[in-house]
Amino acid sequence: MSRHCQRLAILALILLLGVTVRAEYYSSVSSMIVLGDVELELLMATRDFLKAQQEQLETYRDFIVNINNEHIMASEDFDDYLGNPLHAFKLLKRMVKDWKDLYENVVADKPLEDFRKKMLELTADDAFPDLDELRGAVKGLARLQQVYNLTAYDMADGVFNGIYEGAQLQWHDCFDIAVQLFELKQYKNAIEWFMVAADLLRQLDEDEKTKQKPLAEIHEYLALANYQLGHSELAHELLDPVVDLDSTSPAESTREYLNYNPPPSKCHEEQGFSWFSNYTRLCQGRRVPESTTTPLKCFLDSKRHAIFRLAPLKVEQVHLDPDINVYHGILTNSHIAGILEQAEEHVMQRSGVAGGKDKSLIRDLRVSQQTWLNYSSPIMEHVHDLVAAISGFDMKSAEIMQVANYGVGGQYEPHPDYFDYLLPAGYEGDRISTSMFYLSDVAQGGYTVFTRLNVFLRPIKGAMVMWHNLHRSLRPDVRTQHAGCPVLVGSKRIGNIWIHSGHQEFSRPCELFNDGEKSTGLTL
Ligand SMILES: *[C@@H]1O[C@H](CO)[C@@H](O)[C@H](O)[C@H]1NC(C)=O
Ligand SMILES: *[C@@H]1O[C@H](CO)[C@@H](O)[C@H](O)[C@H]1NC(C)=O
Ligand SMILES: *[C@@H]1O[C@H](CO)[C@@H](O)[C@H](O)[C@H]1NC(C)=O
Repeated sequence: MSRHCQRLAILALILLLGVTVRAEYYSSVSSMIVLGDVELELLMATRDFLKAQQEQLETYRDFIVNINNEHIMASEDFDDYLGNPLHAFKLLKRMVKDWKDLYENVVADKPLEDFRKKMLELTADDAFPDLDELRGAVKGLARLQQVYNLTAYDMADGVFNGIYEGAQLQWHDCFDIAVQLFELKQYKNAIEWFMVAADLLRQLDEDEKTKQKPLAEIHEYLALANYQLGHSELAHELLDPVVDLDSTSPAESTREYLNYNPPPSKCHEEQGFSWFSNYTRLCQGRRVPESTTTPLKCFLDSKRHAIFRLAPLKVEQVHLDPDINVYHGILTNSHIAGILEQAEEHVMQRSGVAGGKDKSLIRDLRVSQQTWLNYSSPIMEHVHDLVAAISGFDMKSAEIMQVANYGVGGQYEPHPDYFDYLLPAGYEGDRISTSMFYLSDVAQGGYTVFTRLNVFLRPIKGAMVMWHNLHRSLRPDVRTQHAGCPVLVGSKRIGNIWIHSGHQEFSRPCELFNDGEKSTGLTL
């Protein structure tokens, strides 16, 4: 890429990225690590506070013990005791000074003051997560539940697809999730989580009296959620026992509210997207059986380019027409460590969405964090040369590499990689091909799926997937619609290189037909 071209490219990328307002933690494991560090500081500040307070209490106790000893001595014969000039002096000194010092120390409470300052300092940071962050995290959990068809019970038990992943939720965690879902008006899902919270609370080994208040609150929420879903009778059935048990309960005013307000017009079910069932099925690793399929092959290719003569490419065909190939073992662990190290040096910013009218908005559509790496370092030069050798394309029109990190719940809904009519300035032509490098394995989830082609790919560290987004006619190939499934367990890192159609006259000459239409002889 010429320097001019690069500058234009970077300008275009900045425009595409739009304005990133602030960090959003839940979407990226890299940024969650920062929060972990902040929590360590909170932990240490609290530990310091408790230690200082304990030391202070010990000083006070010693003071009390000493004075008490004096009084025991004096009680035998007060005259005699005070007849000693040193005793008399010490009593006076205590009255004038020591008790005053004690009082001032207790009231000033320096450990508490230090603690307050430290906590304020840590939590007042603009980047300290707020309720919106929590909502985002809850949305992420709800998304996982939906895409992977998980029950709230299994999630609370920490069981994902039958595998216990080493963490559980307590009743109040489930309650908080449920409340946020309620606020987000996801009433059905909220009800499921309130039920789990209620069950976990009932199982708790505590006396019934303490459980009564939170249980009543859960019933109230359940009633309201059912009311919103149009189940008024059920809402009343849920509220009545709460009020019967405690007539001062706030549930009484909730009941009145329900009595004097007409039930909301029945919320119509969320309109499903046409791609959604293909998406969830493929994300769960299930393909529909196909009646006629050309057999796909795995093979070694040492002829594509001289650099593969000694170490042939390991090619796995995953789809024909449009061709999608996985090249295994393309990057070594040390290459990947080098790339990720460079990416870490850039501030990871929440991904924007390319194309679309409001491209500067940060949307749930794409939940990840990303950065861009040029080809000036030796490792990136190597990556550049690999893509050139495998694709056969002229890299003059390649974008620099986008490195993205998807945390738990991180996903990218179905989209094509081409821009079509929204071509960005600075490039010749549309994105002719995509090279997607897997820079990590993912414990569970995070598949790449082609919703129209019945194809799912599990991320395998070091592999690269390549396909063409445009037909030979350079028209967009809508069949290449693809998505990144939400990460269920783990962290997903990928690197994308998009090559544009400019300068490719010799490597992939234009034809008049679209790829899928070759056999029918249809021309445009
Ligand atoms: C979801 O899982 C339940 C069993 O837990 C099953 O009955 C149902 O068919 C599944 N739904 C989808 C869409 O996979
Ligand atoms: C490539 O990236 C490095 C590291 O961010 C930067 O220092 C360098 O200026 C970039 N080179 C070009 C040509 O943009
Ligand atoms: C869903 O997948 C099937 C089978 O691969 C495909 O024929 C259909 O076009 C897909 N539907 C959508 C909306 O992508």
